[in-house]
Amino acid sequence: MGFTEMWQDLLPIGRGPGGGYRRFSWTAADRECRDWFTQEARSRGLALERDRNGNLIAWWDVEAEPGAGAAGMVASVASIAASAVAGDAMAGRVRRDAVLTGSHLDSVPDGGAYDGPLGVVSALAAIDLLRDRGVRPRRPLGVAVFAEEEGARFGVACLGSRLVIGAIDPARARGLRDGDGVTWAEAMAAEGYDPEAIGPDPDRLSINCFVELHVEQGRAMTAPVGVASAIWPHGRWRFDFTGQGNHAGTTLLVDRRDPMLPFASTVLAARDAAERHDAVATMGKVHVTPNGVNAIPSSVAAWLDTRAPSDAAVRATVAQVREAAEEAGGRHGVEVALAEESYTEVVDFHIALRDRLVKVLDDPPVLPTGAGHDAGILSAHVPTAMLFVRNPTGVSHAPEEYASPEDCLAGVDALADVLEELVCR
Ligand code: GLV
Ligand code: MN
Ligand code: MN
Repeated sequence: MGFTEMWQDLLPIGRGPGGGYRRFSWTAADRECRDWFTQEARSRGLALERDRNGNLIAWWDVEAEPGAGAAGMVASVASIAASAVAGDAMAGRVRRDAVLTGSHLDSVPDGGAYDGPLGVVSALAAIDLLRDRGVRPRRPLGVAVFAEEEGARFGVACLGSRLVIGAIDPARARGLRDGDGVTWAEAMAAEGYDPEAIGPDPDRLSINCFVELHVEQGRAMTAPVGVASAIWPHGRWRFDFTGQGNHAGTTLLVDRRDPMLPFASTVLAARDAAERHDAVATMGKVHVTPNGVNAIPSSVAAWLDTRAPSDAAVRATVAQVREAAEEAGGRHGVEVALAEESYTEVVDFHIALRDRLVKVLDDPPVLPTGAGHDAGILSAHVPTAMLFVRNPTGVSHAPEEYASPEDCLAGVDALADVLEELVCR
């Protein structure tokens, strides 16, 4: 199945009436995406590995294929597919020389079609292209689907890749809750995973390098394909405003301890602080309790997402927002608590690997991004690089996110060129 057919197959999964996607971890839509990936991997004779942390990797490992000795020829796709289940048993080997690509299939609430899936579909299409070119990789080539990249359901972005490299405490991950109070442990157990087994598994990704292709998420690119230089430092903070629930009609203004008021001041302060420190700051998620028209809320929980080119700018922005929140809380008799839920330091991608990509692709644009990626997490563990595909709308995390069919195919070509260089030399 080519790029276009794979894309069409995946497109309806988890899509809402407004065109946005809700592919949250361990839900029915997520399962359908995983089944789609499993099917695509099997039809190519790739050995499917389900790791302990909810990530999937499909391996094209010529040396491990049935009947293919070191000097053997690549078996036909049909014969490999017939033994694909046996191939699963071969998965789990340590592959120190491997090249890994791929991305994620989960989405933000009402997200676009491309963020994540473009990297997975392009990776499978790139393997097809390499096979059409008669390439016989000297190193294993894997396609990864990382779990909970967006952190849309359980709050911590890139949870699957963080768990593998030990960047989050497994006990904390097990206890992360979704909006309905379901824990990560409960949700993954319901899908047949053992939550007690999650945690560092660094050998699995002690590989030669990881290259993630991703749709570009701003309006920074004029060419179809670019290469990433860096990811801005970024984090998520939770504010809890606790006041006194009360009657909307009978409670005098002077008697109110309304948490909505300091929350509102905090939203405006986030914008001011971002402008002052050349950062971006967003409050896009809020829970109001009890959320009644005729009740003063008892509490408001709200999340701040802050990013900037430097760590100092992020920290200064958050400090200014915190000060404003506490000041407003004090004025309104509302308690304010702040907790850092995640923080990712600046990522400067591996320079030698980046330069290799730039050379193979003949001087594409090289650009930083304010978006977070599994590639950013893995860069602390293995040499990592990213390719971007142009997004002419400049919109992402929304249904308008887009990449033209021509640019998507240019992305597949570019990824295949890069992978060919990395697996053959
Ligand atoms: C993920 O896409 C993020 O940047 O938050
Ligand atoms: Mn995203
Ligand atoms: Mn993404």
